[in-house]
Amino acid sequence: MKFYDDILGLIGNTPLVRINNITKQLKIKAPIYAKMESLNPGYSVKDRIGVSMVDWAEKEGVLKKGGTIIEATSGNTGIGLALVAAARGYKCIFVLTDKVSVEKNRYLKALGADIVVCPAAAKPGTPDHYVATAKRISEQTPNSFYPDQYNHPANPAAHYHTTGPEIWRDTEGKITHFVASIGTGGTISGTSRYLKEMNPAIKVIGADPYGSIFKTYKDSGHVPEPTPYLVEGIGQALPTGNADLNIIDEIINITDRESFDMARQLSRREGIFCGGSTGTIFAGALKVAKDLDENACVVFIVCDTGEHYLTKFHSDEWMKEKLLLEPQRITGALIAETKNADAPGSLVFVSPDETVSDALEKMNLNGVTQIPVLEDNRSVGSVRESGLLTKLLADRGLLEAKIADVMDKSFPVLDADASLVEIKSKLQKHPAVLIEDFKRITAIITRSDVLDIQR
Ligand SMILES: Cc1ncc(COP(=O)(O)O)c(C=O)c1O
Repeated sequence: MKFYDDILGLIGNTPLVRINNITKQLKIKAPIYAKMESLNPGYSVKDRIGVSMVDWAEKEGVLKKGGTIIEATSGNTGIGLALVAAARGYKCIFVLTDKVSVEKNRYLKALGADIVVCPAAAKPGTPDHYVATAKRISEQTPNSFYPDQYNHPANPAAHYHTTGPEIWRDTEGKITHFVASIGTGGTISGTSRYLKEMNPAIKVIGADPYGSIFKTYKDSGHVPEPTPYLVEGIGQALPTGNADLNIIDEIINITDRESFDMARQLSRREGIFCGGSTGTIFAGALKVAKDLDENACVVFIVCDTGEHYLTKFHSDEWMKEKLLLEPQRITGALIAETKNADAPGSLVFVSPDETVSDALEKMNLNGVTQIPVLEDNRSVGSVRESGLLTKLLADRGLLEAKIADVMDKSFPVLDADASLVEIKSKLQKHPAVLIEDFKRITAIITRSDVLDIQR
């Protein structure tokens, strides 16, 4: 029989996958390989440290039968620890910030963990900060183990003993550049220590979000004021014990926009479905690789799966709300969908045989000033409040007239796939456009709807 003793046996030995379509289009000569940490059983690189920190605690007698594991986490270390807890019969409590995706939060609960959520805006060292909260809960919980992934030596050690050797083995020692992010710093520090021991010429590049302190801290020795960013799991407001910045040759700052764009491109164009931090790293890898030739060998970490972010940057609606969506992906259907998110299918219209009075009442009730005239789901005309009122001033009797007798021309009708550029061009000349999907008018887009998405 072929089987693993438990789920933890599946951790590690993740494959390398070459990037093809994106590098070809960018005319990058150097081969770039993705280290697929998203294929671990908890779908992230952090499974490796979950098991190594618990192994340490069991060996040292810190964690005993029936004990509780308590950790501050952006989610993935929690998932790694929860797998160990499930397999070995421990309880666990994880302290997250409210920036962590709902998917990771629910995943942790599904694995049996208890969750405490702290404000992401709380400053390090204050009682509401997620690390201080985890520490406090562990002090108050008997027979508990607080790994402290930011400082625990078993974190980089896991990567020194597994991630580094795997990359060296699978590239047959050909790796020239290693690119990773810096969260706790465990992945980049442990992996790079092994790789540089094997070949000191290997260059290590850290990719860090704008707003995190690592680049300025490494380049100047000064810890700047952090600013918020949207990518999860990486960057810090303060240096960590496990981030050995001396082993990193260069740190590159990457914007949220670029991180999410790259993660979305990896998913769509290479089939590598990944999280935002992978996008940050891949953006860094591309910047490094563009100056290299075919003799180089660039390896970057795919930190976790895109499934953790389906309601975040993998959703066009979320990207649009954050003003991060690529303009070519803003279609008529998407504008309509987000505009009507609270009340789908709620297009306000009149029929040609309704009266002017009916139309004015509908506009008034719905707080709109122009509506399409629809017959059998086709657009046959339009009415605007100001036009109707002008006509009524001249002849009050028109209140009972049929809409068919007073309506203006139809608003232009565009397909659901119409681009923002097409929509904007029509709105230069018309106050609104209608969106047609499967031969049915489904939405109206006005000038202010477009202004809203371009704030
Ligand atoms: C999504 C994601 N990417 C990257 C990292 C960074 O890894 P490390 O803590 O080893 O620096 C983390 C850490 O939690 C993470 O959750």
